[in-house]
Amino acid sequence: MPTNEIRNRTAEATKYVGNTPFAEEDGSERAETIKRVQEPQHRPKVSIKGVNAWFGSKQALKNINLEIEENTATAFMGPSGCGKTTLIRCLNRMHEMTPGAKAKGQVILDGIDIYDKSIDPVIIKRRIGMVFQKPNPFPTMSIFDNVAAGLKLNGVKDKKLIREIVEESLDGAGLWGEVKNELDKPGMSLSGGQQQRLCIARALAMQPEILLMDEPTSALDPIASSKIEDLVHKLKEDLTIIIVTHNMQQAARVADRAAFMYLGELIEYGFTKQIFQNPEQELTEKFVSGKFG
Ligand SMILES: Nc1ncnc2c1ncn2[C@@H]1O[C@H](COP(=O)(O)OP(=O)(O)OP(=O)(O)O)[C@@H](O)[C@H]1O
Ligand SMILES: [Mg+2]
Repeated sequence: MPTNEIRNRTAEATKYVGNTPFAEEDGSERAETIKRVQEPQHRPKVSIKGVNAWFGSKQALKNINLEIEENTATAFMGPSGCGKTTLIRCLNRMHEMTPGAKAKGQVILDGIDIYDKSIDPVIIKRRIGMVFQKPNPFPTMSIFDNVAAGLKLNGVKDKKLIREIVEESLDGAGLWGEVKNELDKPGMSLSGGQQQRLCIARALAMQPEILLMDEPTSALDPIASSKIEDLVHKLKEDLTIIIVTHNMQQAARVADRAAFMYLGELIEYGFTKQIFQNPEQELTEKFVSGKFG
């Protein structure tokens, strides 16, 4: 698969960038073997444990507990202001970048707490990529440079390798065919849907294991949206996807599991079908049947 290929090559290219327990862990076959022998068969990709978040004195998340399975797509749903964006921003340590914002609790990624003091947040952002509601290509950069930027920033100098990863990432994001002859054009010259796939390619170039998508289709028309939804299906073969969506049909189409949030709390989490067809909580039932507010 192209995405795995990207991951291997980018990992190789950026192996010595950043001094992190992850890099050491990834590099050691022996440690990997010991880990496999010692640990139980099943471990979630991400465990969110007792996460609380604030903006100044305002509490935006209240004791969130959730486990995300590898190679699945999980939808975060709920009315505006319930904390969906805040929660995904807590998953790659972006929340704390907002002045006055803080988070408490644990986010365990492959058994390691990303909030541990020894962890470099930069590495977390590389392992957990993000795509935003509004496509945000770097405005002064070409299509090529938009995808290559992160690699260059991480010290990758090999031009041939950068070119290959850019092509593979654009291919992984379903955009290569449309842009292969105009890589030098500004990223901003693309349509909204293409720009969003460019942003996905930019994220893929960093070989993330998790891709956070915050309402990635809300600014797109139905055709561009359905391309992104198709991508989610394809990408989750290699990655773990968490997608915030207001669109319940979209959640039903793309997500294996769904979480319903309300006023900063996680009300219900389960298989998408169960959440939609047989929710346990009255609030969830009201939301999924459109009786809310
Ligand atoms: N930068 C900020 N400063 C202060 N409060 C904020 C900030 N961003 C969000 N909040 C507050 O935190 C709470 C959660 O907001 P969040 O953006 O996570 O909600 P959301 O579920 O993503 O909403 P939407 O569906 O509208 O995007 C809200 O009450 C919001 O007003
Ligand atoms: Mg939001």
